[in-house]
Amino acid sequence: MKLLRALKRYSVVAAVALAALSLQPSASAAPAPVVGGTRAAQGEFPFMVRLSMGCGGALYAPNIVLTAAHCVDGSGTNTSITATAGAVDLQSPSAVKVKSTKVLQAPGYNGWGKDWALIKLAKPINQPTLKTATTTAYNTGTFTIAGWGAATEGGGQQRYLLKATVPYVSDAVCRQAYGSDLVPAEELCAGYVSTGGTDTCQGDSGGPMFRKDDAGAWIQVGIVSWGQGCARPGYPGVYTEVSTFASAIASAAATL
Ligand code: ARG
Repeated sequence: MKLLRALKRYSVVAAVALAALSLQPSASAAPAPVVGGTRAAQGEFPFMVRLSMGCGGALYAPNIVLTAAHCVDGSGTNTSITATAGAVDLQSPSAVKVKSTKVLQAPGYNGWGKDWALIKLAKPINQPTLKTATTTAYNTGTFTIAGWGAATEGGGQQRYLLKATVPYVSDAVCRQAYGSDLVPAEELCAGYVSTGGTDTCQGDSGGPMFRKDDAGAWIQVGIVSWGQGCARPGYPGVYTEVSTFASAIASAAATL
């Protein structure tokens, strides 16, 4: 299980290669086409961002992307990341591409929990932002996941945004899969534990897991973080618990 944690700190390419070497099950279930997903419609999730290091993200503010800490290296000035937004097709001529100016990795991040980071953009992106959960009230029910990551374990990155829904998994059940690797106060699990088949996967990291709030608006409850393989029975996806970090994220954003 330690390998898992080490793995997620590598680049997506290295992670996929390592996964192929050491984590591929000998008899994996037939890969469903995120895994088990379908194409998102243009404009359906307008806050979705693709980051050039091979991660996802969500617009926290017009000029700030919320992503995973393991997608970025430390904090500071960083003009090397490109954020692509506004199109489900990454090759669309109408996709908006904006460079980063700064990165803020979660204070205290060391590969266990705290898997969040903010990226400041050189200019605002004219798309709706995704509101973040500030209480645990929405850490239940059915969640939507979306991303341009692998559609099968060990598979390639996607040109078109894929989406799927996954049910909440309690910390107790998630612990049965991951033991003490799970940081329950900082992580939230989701997936079809008994059947597998639907999950986020390599390259979806940093992207949001979200649901509707009581007013019918999308609200972000998770950040794609890690899992053993993708969509395997018994191994739900693990997401950063956004509500736990809502105030830390807000104060960090105010400093950018
Ligand atoms: N760590 C992966 C990434 O860097 C995300 C893995 C999500 N895995 C899962 N089974 N839900 O893209």
